[in-house]
Amino acid sequence: MTELIYLDNAATSFHKPKQVTEAMIHFMTEVGANPGRGGHELAVQAQEIVQRTRESLACLFNISSPERISFALNITEALNTVFHGFLNQGDHVITTGMEHNSVIRPLKYLEEIGFITLSIAPCDFKGILDIDALAASIQTNTALVALNHASNVCGTLQDVTAVKNTIGDIPLLVDTAQTAGCYPIDVEAMGIDFLAFTGHKSLMGPQGTGGLYVRDALTLRPLKRGGTGSVSEQLAQPDFFPDLLESGTQNNVGIAGLGAAVDFILETGIDTINDHKNKLSAAFIKAIFSTPGVTIYGPLKADQQVSTISITFDSILPEDAEGSTGCGAINLEWFEDGLSVGEAGQRLNSNHNILVRVGLHCAPLAHQTLGTYPTGTVRISMGYFNTLSEIEIAAKAINKIAAT
Ligand SMILES: Cc1ncc(COP(=O)(O)O)c(C=O)c1O
Repeated sequence: MTELIYLDNAATSFHKPKQVTEAMIHFMTEVGANPGRGGHELAVQAQEIVQRTRESLACLFNISSPERISFALNITEALNTVFHGFLNQGDHVITTGMEHNSVIRPLKYLEEIGFITLSIAPCDFKGILDIDALAASIQTNTALVALNHASNVCGTLQDVTAVKNTIGDIPLLVDTAQTAGCYPIDVEAMGIDFLAFTGHKSLMGPQGTGGLYVRDALTLRPLKRGGTGSVSEQLAQPDFFPDLLESGTQNNVGIAGLGAAVDFILETGIDTINDHKNKLSAAFIKAIFSTPGVTIYGPLKADQQVSTISITFDSILPEDAEGSTGCGAINLEWFEDGLSVGEAGQRLNSNHNILVRVGLHCAPLAHQTLGTYPTGTVRISMGYFNTLSEIEIAAKAINKIAAT
């Protein structure tokens, strides 16, 4: 039986560097104690492991104060911390038409209960944010701009530096779920005020890890209050970072694994990882670009996207995309004739041992932007451990499915 080819790295990366598992086993078997909850030597060792992970992340994102990074269960928790803890009654927030539900749902909820007002800046059919429309949405009470660094549907990268230059002093929250660990991120150069990350995607750490960086001058209300192992005599939550946001025992075994993953990334080099993934994307796009019966979404240029590519099995282009690279099929009638994304995903799995994700990928708004709502796409997402030969096999399988 042929080996499985895992191309669902945008959902979670697989495989992980072996150091990740080793660090987790080490924590479970040799350390085990609760960091910050005791002065004995194992508690101190546990604390050092957590601190090292914080420092490695700070190095990766060019953060000068590691204590401004607090750990969370995932990026969803980190994003919610900002939305519920930073915004105030009457604030205005701007987001984009390419967001994941982890951004849209909490913001829509806050809008529905009359806590905030919300503007959604449009993106074009490749998923690229319209910066002029963003500028035009700014109001005197705009308190936050929140957007993803790259789309989890079609990989489109946003120009975060240009966004910050446009919004000036308005705090910028960046969802780095699809870029942290595979694309260079520098909070200073990019002007990021809140950086939310998840540990289990391109950061190559275990599930159940993530966190939030908060710029020095900013503060926020925590989602949870409770024991932090610090200032225990005080009945109020500590107001200093990271304790402000880290109540209760953390996923320390996960944080140990995440630390090893980030060290692997730092040793390998973010540019090496990015180059490898660019090569895979370029090879894949080239191999399916002219396949009759396949539409590809996104910029279709390896350097303008991460290695996540969405396709549908049809060949009708919208008029304004004809002749261009990258398209969003705005006419959905073809879905009745074309192969459904569910069936395509099933065939890839059953007949070719290729694992991809199909549907809306928790980002219905992005599909509305691309013109693939409500049926969605077949998403092929490549990771650092995928090889060119796997990509060739996947492209051949897609060609075969399109021809039948
Ligand atoms: C862009 C984006 N944001 C947020 C998330 C949520 O990630 P998590 O489930 O780790 O919180 C995802 C997951 O797919 C994502 O792709």
